[in-house]
This record gives sequence, structure tokens and C-alpha cells, in this order.
Amino acid sequence: MAGVPVAEAPRALVRDLSAPEAVGRRVRLRGWVKRTRSSGGILFTLLRDRTGSVQLTAKRDQLGDAAFTEAEHVQVEGVIEVTGTVAEDRRAPGGRELRAESIRVIDAGQPFPIFADQTEEYRLDQRHLVVRSEEFAAVFRIKAEVLRTLRAFLEEEEVLEMTPPIITGNPAEGGAEAFTFDYFGRTGYLAQTAQLYLEALLAPHERVYAITPSFRAEKSRTPRHLTEYTHLEVELAWTGLDELLAFIERMFVRVTHDLADRRPIELRVVGRDPAELKAIQAPFRRVRYGEAIETLKRQGFPVDWGSDLATAEERALTLESAQPLFVTHFPAELKAFYMLRSPDDPRTVEAADLLGPEGFGEIVGASARETDLARLAERIRAIGADPESYTWYLDLRRHGNVPHAGFGLGIERIVRWITRREHIRDTTPFPRTPSRHTP
Ligand code: 4AD
Ligand code: MG
Repeated sequence: MAGVPVAEAPRALVRDLSAPEAVGRRVRLRGWVKRTRSSGGILFTLLRDRTGSVQLTAKRDQLGDAAFTEAEHVQVEGVIEVTGTVAEDRRAPGGRELRAESIRVIDAGQPFPIFADQTEEYRLDQRHLVVRSEEFAAVFRIKAEVLRTLRAFLEEEEVLEMTPPIITGNPAEGGAEAFTFDYFGRTGYLAQTAQLYLEALLAPHERVYAITPSFRAEKSRTPRHLTEYTHLEVELAWTGLDELLAFIERMFVRVTHDLADRRPIELRVVGRDPAELKAIQAPFRRVRYGEAIETLKRQGFPVDWGSDLATAEERALTLESAQPLFVTHFPAELKAFYMLRSPDDPRTVEAADLLGPEGFGEIVGASARETDLARLAERIRAIGADPESYTWYLDLRRHGNVPHAGFGLGIERIVRWITRREHIRDTTPFPRTPSRHTP
């Protein structure tokens, strides 16, 4: 009745509409318009909020001419607030719709510049808008869940989160791939790894981790390298390679199983059957580098003892398997200076790479750390670096030196495997690659 104020309907989220008792309720939703069309004086709008999408219907004679016309002209990604009554509708996506009594336009929006069949380059230029797609929304919710689960797991394992620096004075994983910049007249590096700092924090805490951006100035354009990525690194005192690999297995199983339980809808959106994640089982198969080389030789790969495992070789090792695989005991020359010599073979180090299932390649790099001061200094010289610039790191072997081990997990790598993305850039909202640092 004109002039009689109607009570404001309570605010709801799209997910509330699917409750059995929701039918017949008056609610107020707000969100973004996915698409809209009108025919015969009825407006059909698909509205999205953070919990899902629902169809709204609005009639011209209910809204009034002016309001109906205004609502009709809201663009894709425009924003509205709508009040209406929840109704059952088997034809509507989700089985429910909202019959609108009023629509308030919050931002009518300009024509949205993203639609099907645009080039990949254009879509990368428009990344700030493209991240709203259902597919990206699913990938980044999965990524958030991976990070949440990792933190929960690490807390249960009594591993403490640390905040190592990103700006450093020495590159730790090989100078050639470090970004340098002018740090008040001296050379600064963007961190490639937090490992050396985590090793320093080991004495007071014994079990530490960090989740930080790591930077690699790799010019190679591959579908598995970013120049900036999210790095989980863990460092554990009183731990050798075997125990470290058992820890990594527990972590990997926890992440995959939790995801299957908590994000089945998003997993299906990205094309991953949750059952495949639930099927991941520890222990993972372990092969020594030497055996892996023999297997690859038999398959016709041109490799020999001392060859690095390139993408094609890593792929061949797990192509037929739904489970991850540890490759262990690499030749020392292939790996970083800080890795512990194998007690049973002076040619190899106590290191392992975890290769993802289905030919995926490296997800985790792990090793026990060299504790012998002289051998460590010798390895630093052998890679052409100056032990002087590692004085503080060598100090750790002079004061309260204990056996320890650790690993680095590329968050975008594991998310790429889980979400079956062709290119690693689609596991991060604003990818950094040799050809792109905007938007
Ligand atoms: O094997 P990496 O180079 O090992 C380290 O940096 C060790 N210091 C880690 C540690 O023990 N604390 O890197 C570790 C992981 C790789 O297994 C891979 O998943 C990821 O980091 N990674 C990259 N991810 C995306 N883009 C790149 N360019 C990456 N380089 C390494
Ligand atoms: Mg590695």
C-alpha cells in the first residue's frame, strides 16, 4: 500500500537460498551481475556473490517502468541489491530463484570488456578483470585452501612460522638466476630461498617454516617457471633424509585429502576428480637417481650418470603413475652447495625431488644439510663463490651445529598439478614471467 513503509528484508547470501526452509522467505541479496536478459516484460538476471549464483526474475509491472529500465541496463559485472521472495524453480540453475520486488542499482557498470574467444595476450592484459571468472575463482579458492591446510598441518607438527627477509645480500641458489638491484650503492638480491635464514632460526626453535615470495630470474619460458612464486620452506632439526621424506609424505597426503573433502565443487570446476586426490597414499615410491638414469636409458633417453633430469625425463618417470615419486641421491655436482654428502656414497648427496603424478615433474626439492664446516666452505669455493660472503652462514656450523634437513615446495607448482592448469601462470592472479610484470 502506497505510503506504508515495508520492513527491510534481512540480508542473505546466495547459499542461504538453498536451505529447505528458505522457500517463501523475503530476503535481500547483493552482488555482481553475471548476465541479464529481458523478454515480455520480465527480466532474468544471474547474480553472483561469494557463495554462488542465483537467478532473479523481475516483472516490469512490479518494479515500475523507470526501475525496470534501469535494472535492464545494468552491465555484466554491474552491482545491484535486490529484495524479493525465494521460490522453487526446477528450470533455474540451483533449483531456486528470487522473485524481485525491488532492485537498487549500486553500480550499473560500463560494458565489460571480457568475453569468449579473446586472445591469451589480451586476457593477460586484462587480468585484473579476468580473475573474476568462475574458473579462476575456483583455482584461487583451491590455492587458499592449500595454504590453509599447510599452515594447519605445520602447526600440528609443531613447526613455527618465521618471517625471513626478501631483500638479501647474497644469492643462495646460484647467482645467475638472482634478480639484482641497487641497494644504496651496493648490490641487493631478491631472495631465491629463505633456507639459510631458516637454518639460522633453527637453534632457538628446532622446527621452523616460512611462506614467502621467491624470485628466479630465469629467462626460459616454460609452463612451469614463474619469476616470482610462493615458496613454502621447512627446516627441521634432528632430522635426516628418511624422516624428512616421511614428513613430506604426510604433508602431501593431508593437503590432497583435505582438499577433496573441503573443495569438491571447485575441484570439479577445474576438472579434477576429488577421488583422484583421495587416492593419494603414502608411502611414495623412492628411486635413487642412479636407478632412475638406468630406467631412462632403457627407455632410450640420451642420459648418463651426471646428467640433469630435464622436463622430458622427469615426465617419463611418473607418466604412468597416479602417485608421486621421490627421486633421491643425486650427484653432488647437480645440486646446491649446502646439501649433505651421502655417508654411503661420496658421489651423491642426501637430497630428493618429489615428482608429481601423471608426468608432472618437480613439486618439492629436499635435502639433509651439510654440517661439516670445512666441507661446506670447500663446496662454496667449488661453485665459484667467496666463503667470505657466507661468513654468517658458516658461523651456524661453529655454534650449536646439529643435524638438520629441510625442503622447499612451490605453491604454484602443487596448485598447477591439482588444478590441471596447462601453464603455471594460471595458478597465480598476477603472474610474473620474463615477458610480463603488469598488471
Ligand atoms: O628446488 P629449489 O630451487 O630449492 C630451494 O630453493 C631450496 N633452498 C628449498 C629448501 O630446501 N628450503 O626450489 C624449491 C621448489 C621447487 O621444487 C619448485 O616447486 C619451486 O620451488 N620452484 C619454482 N616454482 C615456480 N617457478 C619457479 N621458477 C620455481 N623454481 C623453483
Ligand atoms: Mg629443485
